[in-house]
Amino acid sequence: MAERDKDLAEVLAIVNRKGGVAKTTTAINLAHGLSRKLLRRVEASQLEQVKESMGEAAGAERLFQYEDYYYYITGHVLLVDFDAQGHCVRGLGIDAGQADVGDVLSAHQHISQAVISADRSADGYPRPNLWVLPSSDNLERVKEILRRHSYGRNIAQYGLLAGDSEINRELLEVLQDSLGLAVERFSYIILDCPPALDAFTQAVYQFSDAAIVPVKADYFSMAGTDLHLANIQEAQLRGIDIRIHTIIPTFFVQRQRLDQQMFEALKTTYGDRVSEPIPRSQAVAEAPAYGKTIFEMDPTNQNPATAAYQALVDRVFYG
Ligand SMILES: Nc1ncnc2c1ncn2[C@@H]1O[C@H](COP(=O)(O)OP(=O)(O)OP(=O)(O)O)[C@@H](O)[C@H]1O
Ligand SMILES: [Mg+2]
Repeated sequence: MAERDKDLAEVLAIVNRKGGVAKTTTAINLAHGLSRKLLRRVEASQLEQVKESMGEAAGAERLFQYEDYYYYITGHVLLVDFDAQGHCVRGLGIDAGQADVGDVLSAHQHISQAVISADRSADGYPRPNLWVLPSSDNLERVKEILRRHSYGRNIAQYGLLAGDSEINRELLEVLQDSLGLAVERFSYIILDCPPALDAFTQAVYQFSDAAIVPVKADYFSMAGTDLHLANIQEAQLRGIDIRIHTIIPTFFVQRQRLDQQMFEALKTTYGDRVSEPIPRSQAVAEAPAYGKTIFEMDPTNQNPATAAYQALVDRVFYG
């Protein structure tokens, strides 16, 4: 496989066609965790030296002051919300802004106008290098328009209805055109995908370097059926035809036999690609109500959920 260009963002899609498996939770915490990795605290004694080495213009852009400390920003992270429910901004406690990802895909807004800062320094949550491209109901409308355009163009050009692969290719081009600049400017782009497997989501997969797949042991669909673990795995991992970076068991309860079995079964099939599970945790469940990530809700690694999300961040960051 070709080496990734280190000057371009690593684009990771958080995917699972099943709903409620912690895609959005994982996207938010991973994005914030990576942005923290791209901050270096500068000691007061070294400030002048750092400024000098950067030059004045770069210094203003790359140095961030919070309370008594300076931070040197080594890169930026963009969280793109591809789910019309628009949960990403709410989970981070910020306002949605004027434009959304639908406006960018339909070329009504330039991406630089639509991306908003996730910084909440004023409330005590500095996030100087975390950015969000928010979503709203508008995205559904735009997806439908793009789909129809694609059909229309194919009929005009070839006198036939577009097949899936033509539509996929056109949607991928739309993504590349509208988000291309972000790939050049950011270090990481995290894509929070909806629980779907439509042509648009397929194109989002193709746009990504790799997928991160949260997987949940599903008691509900097991109850009263003869479903096997393999079926749950299959149902949640189906249709992902890009490189799987990490499979991450979520809502994990150590003492639940099904959770243990699921973890073992995943490891047997996918080996090293399965990461340590994220435990079911009250702090994780409550954090969005406060607009905080797990690293702000419970910053010490004493909390198993914080430690588990930190381990995922390290896994992505150190590769
Ligand atoms: N480790 C966890 N422990 C407890 N609650 C969690 C955990 N992870 C996520 N949740 C909660 O479970 C719910 C579903 O999570 P989330 O919205 O991240 O899933 P999703 O896969 O993005 O859902 P959808 O498919 O609807 O987009 C949310 O209320 C979230 O706060
Ligand atoms: Mg979601």
